[in-house]
Amino acid sequence: MSKNGTTCSFLYYSSAIVIAAVCMAVINTSLLTSASAKSSLSMIEAKALLNSNWWGNFSSTNHCELMGITCNWAGSVTHLQLGRKCHSIGQEVSFNSSAMSPYCSFLFHPRKLESMNWTSLPNLEQLNLLSCNLTGSIPEEIGTLSKLTDLYLSRNNLEGLIPSSIGQLTNLTHLDLSSNRLSGPIPSSIGQLTNLTYLNLFSNQLNGSIPPEIGKLENLDHICIAGNILSGPIPSSIGQLTNLLSLDLSSNRLNGSIPSEIGKLKNLIQMFIGGNILSDPIPSSIGQLTNLIHLDLSSNRLNSSIPPEIGKLENLITMHLGVNSLHGIIPVEIGDLTQLIYLNLTDNLLKGKIPSSIGQLKNLEVLDMSANQINNIPTELGHLSNLRNLSLSWNQLLGQISPIKILYQLQYLDLSHNLLSGLIPKELEQIKFLENMNLSDNYLNGTIPTGLTNLFYLRHLDLSHNNLSGEVPSSLCYIEDLDLSYNRLKGQIPQHRYDCPPLYEARNCSKKKIVKFTLIISLPIIVFLAFLAFACFRCHKAQKNKIEARAMKNGDICSIWNYDGRIAYKDIVKATDDFDIRHCIGTGGYGSVYRAQLPSGKVIALKKLHHLEAEEPAFDKSFRNEVQMLTNVRHRNIIKLYGFCLHNRCMFLVYEYMERGSLFCFLRADADAVELGWTLRVNIVKAIAYALSYLHHDCTPPIVHRDISSNNILLNSKLEAFVSDFGTARLLHLDSSNQTVIAGTYGYIAPEFAYTMVVTEKCDVYSFGVVALETIMGRHPGELLSSLESPSTRNIMLADVLDLRLPLPTNPMVVGNIVLVARMAIACLHSKPRSRPTMLRVSQEFQSYRKTFATPLCAISLLQLWNAEMDFYPINE
Ligand SMILES: *[C@@H]1O[C@H](CO)[C@@H](O)[C@H](O)[C@H]1NC(C)=O
Ligand SMILES: *[C@@H]1O[C@H](CO)[C@@H](O)[C@H](O)[C@H]1NC(C)=O
Ligand SMILES: *[C@@H]1O[C@H](CO)[C@@H](O)[C@H](O)[C@H]1NC(C)=O
Ligand SMILES: *[C@@H]1O[C@H](CO)[C@@H](O)[C@H](O)[C@H]1NC(C)=O
Ligand SMILES: *[C@@H]1O[C@H](CO)[C@@H](O)[C@H](O)[C@H]1NC(C)=O
Ligand SMILES: *[C@@H]1O[C@H](CO)[C@@H](O)[C@H](O)[C@H]1NC(C)=O
Ligand SMILES: *[C@@H]1O[C@H](CO)[C@@H](O)[C@H](O)[C@H]1NC(C)=O
Ligand SMILES: *[C@@H]1O[C@H](CO)[C@@H](O)[C@H](O)[C@H]1NC(C)=O
Ligand SMILES: *[C@@H]1O[C@H](CO)[C@@H](O)[C@H](O)[C@H]1NC(C)=O
Ligand SMILES: *[C@@H]1O[C@H](CO)[C@@H](O)[C@H](O)[C@H]1NC(C)=O
Repeated sequence: MSKNGTTCSFLYYSSAIVIAAVCMAVINTSLLTSASAKSSLSMIEAKALLNSNWWGNFSSTNHCELMGITCNWAGSVTHLQLGRKCHSIGQEVSFNSSAMSPYCSFLFHPRKLESMNWTSLPNLEQLNLLSCNLTGSIPEEIGTLSKLTDLYLSRNNLEGLIPSSIGQLTNLTHLDLSSNRLSGPIPSSIGQLTNLTYLNLFSNQLNGSIPPEIGKLENLDHICIAGNILSGPIPSSIGQLTNLLSLDLSSNRLNGSIPSEIGKLKNLIQMFIGGNILSDPIPSSIGQLTNLIHLDLSSNRLNSSIPPEIGKLENLITMHLGVNSLHGIIPVEIGDLTQLIYLNLTDNLLKGKIPSSIGQLKNLEVLDMSANQINNIPTELGHLSNLRNLSLSWNQLLGQISPIKILYQLQYLDLSHNLLSGLIPKELEQIKFLENMNLSDNYLNGTIPTGLTNLFYLRHLDLSHNNLSGEVPSSLCYIEDLDLSYNRLKGQIPQHRYDCPPLYEARNCSKKKIVKFTLIISLPIIVFLAFLAFACFRCHKAQKNKIEARAMKNGDICSIWNYDGRIAYKDIVKATDDFDIRHCIGTGGYGSVYRAQLPSGKVIALKKLHHLEAEEPAFDKSFRNEVQMLTNVRHRNIIKLYGFCLHNRCMFLVYEYMERGSLFCFLRADADAVELGWTLRVNIVKAIAYALSYLHHDCTPPIVHRDISSNNILLNSKLEAFVSDFGTARLLHLDSSNQTVIAGTYGYIAPEFAYTMVVTEKCDVYSFGVVALETIMGRHPGELLSSLESPSTRNIMLADVLDLRLPLPTNPMVVGNIVLVARMAIACLHSKPRSRPTMLRVSQEFQSYRKTFATPLCAISLLQLWNAEMDFYPINE
């Protein structure tokens, strides 16, 4: 049947009426009158779909309306997409409404590819069965689908060989067989797929060597065959793949040398070939890969010196050459890699001094040169003002600890197992973000500086195996993980926490400042609020204030800030047709929300407390709370309160109107959810984090929202997020009762609240974690929340929990952000409140995170995120 076929004329044949309905999607009316019915093919196709039993028995329905099926005008199947819409599926097919969400979650039982008669579907262009619980093997007949452009069978349980007939699919542009249990060799026929741009065979059990024919795939931009058991050399023909952007051959058993032809891959952005048994030198041609951003050659047996040409990779952000046999000195040219954030040279045979050019790496955040033979640190190391993680352990460092003391951003410092001597410098006390310090196995002497206890975040301190003397400072009791063994210290090793003096005395943590702030800032606010509350709730009189308030003769007060027109209860009644249901845009625990257009044209949102509830003291309190909170807080990601109205029959709050409603509703509507792309979602999560960080850390006393949920995150017309609904929020006075009965939304409440009933900021942190996960998953994480800490999550890949309705992100920047959101969310969901990060920390991570991420999305599991075993610095508490 020709693709641009001539007819839909079978519409007029009664026998084909059923099939006629099929045409609804793509009817070209100008063709309706042409002749020649070709319904027989579509009959065969219907039979093939029926016989597969993938959709059960559908004899009464038309096969083109089945979930995930799209037909052409003639009723012939062109798309079978039950999996996630993968990236680059190009011209997106518009599904008819009944098949709006064609995802495998609707297929409950395992399906076999073999049960479909593929030869009956000759017009198939796209086959997407990603994460569809497929079992069995890939049948040879798949090769008959000559029009196929996209084949996604990733994340199933497919076994057996990749059929060599795959080479017949010459129209194929995307081939993804990753995360299955396919074995045997990569068929050399793959070289015939010259239109292929994306090849992903990640995480299978493929063996044999990489066929040199792969070099014929000159249109490839992504190739990932990591996580197999491929052996033999990297074929030099790989140099012909000049369009390649991403090359991932990591975690195989490839041996031999890295071919110098690799230098021809001028467009390459990321190269991961770590975790193999490659030997010999790093080819100097590597210097030609000037577009490279991520380079990972770690865990091989490379045994040259680091070629000076490496300095030409000026765009490099991460470089991992660790766990090899690289020798010689570190070349000065390393200082030319000024974009570098992550540099890992651990476990090699590098000698001598670190070149002073290292001081030029102003962006560097992680530097790991542990387990080498380095004997000197240049003072220029002190210029690395962004450094957070420094490990120089297991080297031959000699002399005093000097330049490190000025690295004020350091969180992790490991200088253990060296030959350092002299005192522990007092200046270390100024590295105020330090969380983990290991100076063990050196020759340090003198006393432990008592000021170390000023390091508020310090949790792990190891000073063992030195020559330290004097008394053990008792205030070290705040350090969770303390090792002072094998020194000449006197006194008791303090037990963690139990015999610690009260926090503020021991830790000099600006208690006075807090008190002062409370007095200076919050006192006037409280006075003002008390005044306001009194004025508004008790006294039905207009106030002469900045606030324009107005008393109407029936006793109502409407106060609308910065509103130029006059507004009264009756205007509101008019604008909402007396609170007609048509204007209602949502109902919450405390009331209903209406959209109202004021006489001036301005649109506002009204939250009207339910009539009866308005008389309940609890709701009256909630109303006051909200007014009180919102009059004070001013943040770009917190909803603005325009004012409020009180009336003898009802009361309501007047807000900035949020055109796109709540995040909750947005994520539940398929069409909306698709509009909410990855970058928008990341921005939503960041906005919530910034707002909460403001409430917790910039407000004095801190404000705990207590009811963060996707219902309370509202979106404006630009899909920017705003935190709303402060009905249950409260100021967290350090001395007043934290206890309360009503707070939070089921599914978002921190587990400890159930038994402690104590509200802390960490409750919000937990709820934030839930909302953040929900935002990237597109649905409430549900049971995943409780299973995060169990080993069963070991097998769940991040890519599998991301919202199925969006194509997986490929842009490394976007991937990096998604991973960061997931990492932060998971850290916030820790069952122990103490182990959750503060919102300040979370928002700092979001702000400082500027660049891309090195691990391909397809390789990240939730467990890795949980353990924070990622390429970047770990999340510390
Ligand atoms: C119908 O298809 C023909 C060619 O296939 C095209 O030129 C014409 O614009 C189409 N008409 C409509 C209404 O889509
Ligand atoms: C598959 O369908 C073709 C017709 O398209 C038919 O010739 C063949 O016998 C079928 N194969 C099986 C195994 O049913
Ligand atoms: C590729 O697809 C086009 C149209 O989609 C088709 O005409 C052509 O025959 C296909 N190529 C092969 C080798 O089958
Ligand atoms: C490859 O794609 C081009 C268009 O991008 C097409 O013209 C060509 O026929 C395709 N090659 C094969 C072998 O299908
Ligand atoms: C690949 O693995 C299969 C078993 O799965 C084995 O029979 C075969 O010999 C292996 N081939 C190579 C080249 O190692
Ligand atoms: C690679 O390993 C194979 C055995 O797996 C061995 O026969 C071959 O000589 C090795 N090649 C090189 C270059 O080391
Ligand atoms: C590097 O390793 C290879 C293979 O193990 C060996 O042949 C070569 O001599 C080594 N080169 C150096 C400089 O150590
Ligand atoms: C450096 O690489 C090694 C080996 O891959 C790894 O274990 C270590 O955690 C890395 N260092 C840092 C700071 O990421
Ligand atoms: C520490 O050791 C150095 C020699 O490394 C010595 O000069 C100094 O006096 C010692 N200081 C103390 C307090 O023991
Ligand atoms: C409030 O919470 C803090 C820390 O969570 C706790 O130390 C304090 O005792 C609590 N206050 C009351 C009255 O429960």
